[in-house]
Amino acid sequence: MDLAGKKVIITGVSSGIGKSLVEQYLEKGSIVCGLGRTDPTISNVNFTFLKTDIRNFNEVEHSISKFLKNHEGIDILINNAGMGSFGPVEDYSIDEIHEMFETNVYGTLYTIKLAVPIMKLKGRGHIINISSTAGIEGYPQVSVYGATKFAVKAISQSMYKELRDFGIKVTCVYPGSTKTDFFKNIDAIVPHDYMLMPKEVASMIVQATETSDNFHQVNIEVRPLRPKGPAK
Ligand SMILES: NC(=O)c1ccc[n+]([C@@H]2O[C@H](COP(=O)([O-])OP(=O)(O)OC[C@H]3O[C@@H](n4cnc5c(N)ncnc54)[C@H](OP(=O)(O)O)[C@@H]3O)[C@@H](O)[C@H]2O)c1
Repeated sequence: MDLAGKKVIITGVSSGIGKSLVEQYLEKGSIVCGLGRTDPTISNVNFTFLKTDIRNFNEVEHSISKFLKNHEGIDILINNAGMGSFGPVEDYSIDEIHEMFETNVYGTLYTIKLAVPIMKLKGRGHIINISSTAGIEGYPQVSVYGATKFAVKAISQSMYKELRDFGIKVTCVYPGSTKTDFFKNIDAIVPHDYMLMPKEVASMIVQATETSDNFHQVNIEVRPLRPKGPAK
């Protein structure tokens, strides 16, 4: 699919994978709308930022309605906004558990709930959900974050079967460790250059949305080649 002029909504655009996605879709000539709490201050006529806390359904609804007043339809929705911390479940406060689920799972469901009827009207669309390798397998200290990312996988696996007959593609992306601000709340891991780079994950996603109309990539698992550096 030619991405020029396509309408793309991306959540969580202030840094990391989301910011790289905005830059790469703008390079392709897409019309990009970023929903998030922090404005990435990208100056481009094809970019709009709408301040939105993804955990708040009313804010998400308001932003998507605002976008639709100026643009007809949504071609691509990328559920990228997310956060995480690692540790034993018993050390988490209930508020911290809720925050992670509200951001990573509820936020994803909110945008999907609003975008799917719009995509169904057009008989086409592509939803990308960002899970994690922690949404494929369990890791110690990753029970809470992993639970949210397994949920994102569950949403994606159900929705691709539910939506494909309507011409809507659903792709779930499972990145391994990526050098972003994600690790700001995780003292045990210091981001380094053997991790994936956000622009590499973003370019895999952009490519997935360029595929021809008759197929979709259901799962994209992408991991660093040498996560701990060269073998010694
Ligand atoms: N980095 C990794 O190793 C890795 C691996 C697998 C999957 N992922 C996933 O990849 C996605 C992107 O993360 P990243 O690595 O690029 O980290 P990042 O640089 O921290 O980006 C996360 C983005 O989400 C936004 N966000 C967080 N809470 C939000 C909220 N309540 N409402 C709106 N926006 C919110 C953040 O902006 P504000 O805080 O300014 O709102 C930021 O723009 C996340 O879903 C993450 O779980 C990351």
